[in-house]
Amino acid sequence: MTDFPPIRKAVFPVAGLGTRFLPATKSIPKEMLPIVDKPLIQYAVDEAVEAGIDTIIFVTSHKKGAILDHFDPNSELESLLTAQGNVELRDRVHNIIPDHVSTRYVIQEKALGLGHAVWCAKKLVGDEPFAVLLADDLIRSTGSGCLKQMVAEYHATGSGCIGVEEIPVSMTDRYGIVSVHKDAVGRNYIRDIVEKPSPESAPSNLGVVGRYILPAEIFSLLESVRAGAGGEIQLTDAIARLLENKPLLAHAFEGVRYDCGSRQGFIRATVDYALENADLRDDLLRYIETVKGV
Ligand code: UTP
Repeated sequence: MTDFPPIRKAVFPVAGLGTRFLPATKSIPKEMLPIVDKPLIQYAVDEAVEAGIDTIIFVTSHKKGAILDHFDPNSELESLLTAQGNVELRDRVHNIIPDHVSTRYVIQEKALGLGHAVWCAKKLVGDEPFAVLLADDLIRSTGSGCLKQMVAEYHATGSGCIGVEEIPVSMTDRYGIVSVHKDAVGRNYIRDIVEKPSPESAPSNLGVVGRYILPAEIFSLLESVRAGAGGEIQLTDAIARLLENKPLLAHAFEGVRYDCGSRQGFIRATVDYALENADLRDDLLRYIETVKGV
């Protein structure tokens, strides 16, 4: 390992409108939707903490009080669980965020796009490389989590890093798409990145997923980016400018990603996580047998 600055801070943009999940997300933030018994945001925070993050920065809207409440201590609930002798559940509630990890909040007044949401964290991040995690991309890994894998790549090279996976060519218009070239040891460096290209114009079928390690230079680039695809200020457009001066890796992570901002991805994640849970697995398998062919 070389002496690159550690990745200590992670930005969680959670100020989006979650329109694909309405009406459920009319009053509940998309990131608070649970997969089995944990909200999406907590899976992403757990992944960040595993990767060594000690400062969690939520970019939130005025309507997302539920996220603040989830990560705030709740001594009344803990006392009740203690009195009921339910120590295991009390500890789970107590340890939602480890003591050495701090949380910060910044408001994005208007959902102007992911790029704008990241820019809102500028002051809290300061002048150091940082991570961005989109909680609706849930990534299940059997070994190290996706962000931990990316932090290792960063420490090996000093380069920022973006999580990617192969997607069906017909779906390029739903993703940021990168083209890559390999270095001498087979690492994929990003040559170009475009937001939501048509299948005909896409440079590849490598889609960007919601995990990034970025240098602080991204903030000044975000300031000058104009609204792009969908009328939003796109992080992708600032990354394209960053690539003119800074190398960025494309990391094809080990693991399975679920797009939990879509109903299909959310349901698949629920089934897979339930099948992994010893208390739920057998019952779920029996139930699937009974509904098969209905
Ligand atoms: P998405 O585009 O997937 O989220 O943004 P969305 O806009 O909430 O959902 P749909 O498409 O309308 O269903 C990816 C992430 O960026 C955050 C979202 O909360 C989500 O975690 N985001 C997006 C912001 O924080 N601010 C924005 O202005 C836009």
